[in-house]
This record gives sequence, structure tokens and C-alpha cells, in this order.
Amino acid sequence: MDINELTRDAVATISEAEAPALMETAATLLERWNTEYYVYDAPSVPDAEYDRVFQLLEALEARFPQFKSPVSPTSRVSGTVRSDLAKVTHARPMLSIHTETDVTPEGAVAFDRRVRNELGLTDADPAIEYDCELKFDGLACSLRYENGLLVSAATRGDGQVGEDVTANVRTIRSIPLRLTGDVPAVLEVRGEVLMHKADFERLNAKQLAEGKKPFVNPRNAAAGSLRQLDSSITAERVLRFYAYSLGETSEEAFAPTQSGVLDRLHKMGFPVAAMRRVVSGPQALSQFHEDVAQARSELPFDIDGVVYKVNDLTLQERLGFLSREPRWACAHKYPPEEAMTQMEAIDIQVGRTGKLTPVARLKPVFVGGVTVSNATLHNEDRIAQLDLHVGDWVVVRRAGDVIPEVVRVVKERRPESVEDFVMPSRCPECDSATLRDEEEKDTRCTGGLICPAQRKLSLVHFASRRAMGIDGLGEKIVTLLVDEDLVKTPADVFTLKLEDLTAPTTASRLAVEANEAKPVEEREKGIKLVKRMGPKAAQNLLDSIEKAKSTTLARFIYALGCRHVGEATALSLAQRFGTLANLEAADEATLLTVDDVGEIIAQSVYAFFKEPHNRAVIEALIAAGVKWPDASVAVANTDSAVAGKTFVLTGTLPTLSRDEAKDRLLGQGAKVSGSVSKKTDFVVAGAEAGSKLEKAQALGVTVIDEATLLQMLGEGKADTNAEAPTVMEAAPQVEPVKKSEPKEETPQDKGEVLQGSLF
Ligand code: IVH
Repeated sequence: MDINELTRDAVATISEAEAPALMETAATLLERWNTEYYVYDAPSVPDAEYDRVFQLLEALEARFPQFKSPVSPTSRVSGTVRSDLAKVTHARPMLSIHTETDVTPEGAVAFDRRVRNELGLTDADPAIEYDCELKFDGLACSLRYENGLLVSAATRGDGQVGEDVTANVRTIRSIPLRLTGDVPAVLEVRGEVLMHKADFERLNAKQLAEGKKPFVNPRNAAAGSLRQLDSSITAERVLRFYAYSLGETSEEAFAPTQSGVLDRLHKMGFPVAAMRRVVSGPQALSQFHEDVAQARSELPFDIDGVVYKVNDLTLQERLGFLSREPRWACAHKYPPEEAMTQMEAIDIQVGRTGKLTPVARLKPVFVGGVTVSNATLHNEDRIAQLDLHVGDWVVVRRAGDVIPEVVRVVKERRPESVEDFVMPSRCPECDSATLRDEEEKDTRCTGGLICPAQRKLSLVHFASRRAMGIDGLGEKIVTLLVDEDLVKTPADVFTLKLEDLTAPTTASRLAVEANEAKPVEEREKGIKLVKRMGPKAAQNLLDSIEKAKSTTLARFIYALGCRHVGEATALSLAQRFGTLANLEAADEATLLTVDDVGEIIAQSVYAFFKEPHNRAVIEALIAAGVKWPDASVAVANTDSAVAGKTFVLTGTLPTLSRDEAKDRLLGQGAKVSGSVSKKTDFVVAGAEAGSKLEKAQALGVTVIDEATLLQMLGEGKADTNAEAPTVMEAAPQVEPVKKSEPKEETPQDKGEVLQGSLF
């Protein structure tokens, strides 16, 4: 019988004579796949194949328990429950390492100097070779193999006596249960058990979902999981092991160097950290310290420093020990990433999009190598989750270049009187009302048009092509206009004069003035006035501003940048209310009756027009000459074949520009999206359509050409189809509009074109 052909049902037909070999094959395969997956990051079979063989082995073991190996891969999931963890005396003590207190690169130099002194080397002697490793932030663990089989595993304990965690360690997938090849009769492998950051996040999410307490950090989670009395709990948590040294071995010369030991262990199937390096001399040590600091936040697990070890094992022996610490190794840490301090206040920062972010103002504290006096609190909910009050003592974390954050409150140190935090109801930048977005849990300023914090972004949007469509007023010029204090609100755009735009920049004017204030002999040459814009560009901009004054109500509403009001909603609002005055007067209930306007949009629109600052800007815009004809109040668009459907436009259409096609679709109640997804109803493809067309085909989204689109819009002519045969061919799932279909002849203005034939 071959394991590849064996099925679960056929296990019942296996004879006692066949079983051992099959079980052996299954166990070997499973362990090999485990190692490929967890140690070498190179799985060779899909998970389903692993599961299949695993289930076969389980079934075989159930039928033939007499042949079950004590190191069977199935033992990784089964649990044993104990009342306490037994004590184990280590065959060789588990040592600790001297920690270099100087966290600067100098720390490495000091270690090298000590080693050289101890060996009696002078400056003339060659550099010493070191193995540089990560200092894992987990729990030390010693694994004992006898004749290649994992027989016991113990925590470090006090270094002499640890706790027996064999059953728990068996559940760790990255730990080999059986070693193959050239293996010493006795081999103790030492290393760190830890939890990857991603697995920690998942575990905590699960804990929270189950109403359990989350773990403080990956180290605590790893410790709690490894020192479990019930090993089935350990099995549910994803722990990892990384080897870093040896305990007792029956083979005297396992390898000549520390790096050789790790290489050999890796070959035997033990995980070792990918980031390690053999170097010579102290500068290279500090270089490693620095490189690891850079890579730290990208590592899958937490570390609290690096470890340097004299690479040559005979040199190690010569160096020996000082009390319980080897003289040949040293841990070089990083500045702590967490520190405790008191929070004095919560400030509110307003971002470019109007989001209000609460920021903790802290008594300055040294953390992660810098003094921190502010830390982000993200949003209101986060503050509630932390149960944070003004005056609390807090733990601040600054990891790498990440923005410092408050990670928890030290409840035991809470002062007698602390203040509750309330999100402000008015924007601290512009005093406009704020509004909480329940969906995103954010609070935002509603004063988009006048809020200084949002000025640049809202102006760029205001001027953009499909809003007011002011050619030449992009991010660069907006930044210039705002920085030069020429434009504060959109209305200011319409009162700009040529001289404003062509005057010298403030920076260059100040530089020239400062230079001229110096005595003649000290003046620098080459400091000149720089114009804000050249005269030609400035005039072009003024022309397009003038042109943009005549717009439509829908564009105007869209340009105002009210949150959640995209083009389609702006159009619905314009069509529904006809005039701006009607829209401004609408209450939330009325707004809710507009197509596609739900509670969030209604609330946002209502708050926007209620805000006096926004009304003032609108009035100023009208006073500056912005005008539009009243919109015709739409009635029957929902009858259109495109109403309510989502379209994506791609490639060049034969007659319509992208904007024209979009306008027509929106005008008939369709949605137009920029990317293809399962929710897309139609992709309109023109010449040279690229990845969007491919994606549509992959997802089975209907692809149509311009002629078909025009027909759906009620504008089609029966014979315009010849333009894009390629698209039709490329998309066999399209239901081509049959020319003979009688519905096609239906008068367009009835709005019934193609209904029934396409859908
Ligand atoms: S070697 C004599 N290598 O640090 C050397 N230890 O203070 C014995 N540790 O609890 C240990 N990463 O768990 C060594 N790459 C590494 C290490 C490492 C973390 C921990 C170890 C022990 C402590 C020693």
C-alpha cells in the first residue's frame, strides 16, 4: 500500500503487517513538510495535502495504537493536562549573558576591548572574529534529543533547575520531533521560544472576541502559552523556536565555531534567525547593532538587542566565565521602547482631511532614544478603550521610527482626581462644528472650506477637473497661493490679480532684504527676487479662473467638498433640489428622501450647510461671480437602463471622451468607478484598454463597447457597432445586443431602451 493512494476509508483494510511502514512514511513526510514550512520558509505541498496525510496517520494510530511513535507529528495537537510543571535539572547549566549597559555603538567597542585584554592581545594583533546574533525577546528553552528523538524540553528556570514543558514543546511546529542524518546520541539544543508579532495580534484579537483579557506583549503571551498545564491550549497558540546554542552533546567537536554550530543546527532542521553575521573587529560589531536597529520594526518578532559571541570555540574556552556569565559573549541592548510618564492634557490636532486626532501631552520622557512629549491617541474610541483620563500615568511606546503612542494606563498610579476626556464639539482650528463619523469612528471638522488645517486639500479638490475645473490650479500652485497667504478660502481664488501672482515670493523678498541690510562688503551675490509665477502662466491661470465662474449646480455642490458627497451624490442633490437655496433649506429628513442618500450623507450635508462659516464662503463665491443655471429637477432617470448600475470606463472610446461618458452615465443615475471589482456591472472598453479589461474578464464582468453604451443611454444608433469588434471578441461573456431585437427600435426618450434584452 502506498500512502499516496491510501484513503481514510481504506485504513480499515490495512493489515497489522502493513501498518508500521505506512505510519513511518506518513510521519516522515509530515515532519519534512513541517520543517520546509516552519524552518526553511519553503513549503513544497499545499496545506490540504498536509491535512490529508495527517488525518491518515491519525486514523492509522487509532487502529494500531501499539505502533504509535512517542514523537508522532499527531502528538503536536493532542493535549496532556498536568497539575503542575515538574522540575528538571539541566545537564549543563543554562547561562546568562553579560549585558552591555552603554546602548550607543561604544558598547560594542568596550566588549571587544575586554575580550582582547583578557586574551592578552595588543593593538598589533589581528582583529577577533565574532558571531553576531539577535537577542530574542522570549523565553529560553532547552531541548534534549536522544538518538535523534526529542525526549524532553525545559524552561531555563534559575539556570540550574527549570520546568518540564515537553508536552507543550511538542506542539511547536518549528521544533523537530525527530532528527535525521548524522546526529549525536545526545544533543541538547538551546534557543528561544517566542511568538511572532502577527500571531500575537491574532491571538489578542481572539482573546478580545471571546471576552478574555488580552496579553500585554508577545513575550508574555509566549510565556503564558509555553508554561501551560494543558498542552492543548499551547497547541492553539502559534509559538516559534529559534536555536542559538548547545547544551550537553555526546559529540565533542560538534562544530569549530559558533556560526558553524548554528549552520549545522539549521541543516538538521532547527530554525535559526536569518539575520546573523560573522564579522571581525569592533566597528563591524557596532555596524551590526545599527543595521539591526534599522531592520528591527520589520522583523517578525520582538528583540531587545543583539548578542556578540567570540566565534572560535577554542578561544571561548580560553576566555571562560566570570561568575555565571561567559566572558566570550555580550548582549548589546537598545534604548527601551517603553517608558512611564504622566499625561498632562489631551490636545486636538486637525489633519488635512479634517480628522480630529487626540494627542496626549506628556511630561517629557526619554524613550526609544529620544525625549517624547507628545503621543498619538488615534481617536475617541481608543481613549475609551484605554480608560484614559487627563492626569493619568501612562506607558508610552516608541518603536523605531514609529510615532510614539500611549499603550496603557498605569491604573495603580491614578491620581485621586482625574478628568474625563470629551471630544470637542467645535474645531480648535476654525471653530466650525465637528461631526463624528460612526462608520470610521472618527470625528471631523465640518468647516472644510475655511478650516486652515484643511485649506490646501479642500482647495485642490475645489479646483479639480470635475469640480470647478480650474485648469492650472493643482497642488503645486495651491500650496504656493496658501503659503504666500494669497488664498484663505475658495472665494479668494476669484479675486486674485495678475500682480498677486507675479509678485516675488515672500522667502526671496526676505532673503534679499536681509542681504541688503548687511554692510556692502559682506553682502552675498546671487540672492535675487524670485517671482511667484511667470506672467504668462499667471495670465493663463486667471483666464481659467474666469472661465470656471460659469458652472453647474452639481459641479458647485461637488466642489464644496462636503464629506461623503461625491459627484453622483452632488448630481442627485442638484437634480432633486434644483436650486442651492432649496438644498440649503433641506432638513435631514428631506435629504434622506434623495436617491442614494443615507443617514451618514444626510447628516454630513445638513451639518455642512448649517455651518455659518460655510454659508459665508458660499455667499462670497457668489459675490465673486460664480454662477450656474438652476438645475432641472429630474424625474424619470431611474427608468434608464444604466440607472443604479456601476460602470468602469477604460481605454479610448471612439467618439466620447472619458468625461463625456462619465457625465452621461451619472446623469442617468449610474455610478462610475475607477476600478473593477465583483460589484462592477459593466466595463466600457475602448481602444488600448489594459489591465482593467483583463480584470473584468477574469471576474466575469460584462464588457461593452461605446456603441452599446450609447444604446443603453438611449442615444445609440443601430449601426455604430463596427467600431470596437476586438472588445466584443475579447469578452465572450458579453451578451451582444442583437440588432434584430425589436426592443432596440423602441424610441429612446421612453427610457426603456434595451431593457429586457440585456437584463
Ligand atoms: S546565548 C552563554 N544567544 O538571553 C550564552 N542567548 O542572558 C547563553 N537570548 O535567557 C545564551 N537571544 O534566552 C544567547 N542569540 C542569543 C540569545 C540569547 C536571546 C537570551 C537567553 C537568555 C538570555 C541570556
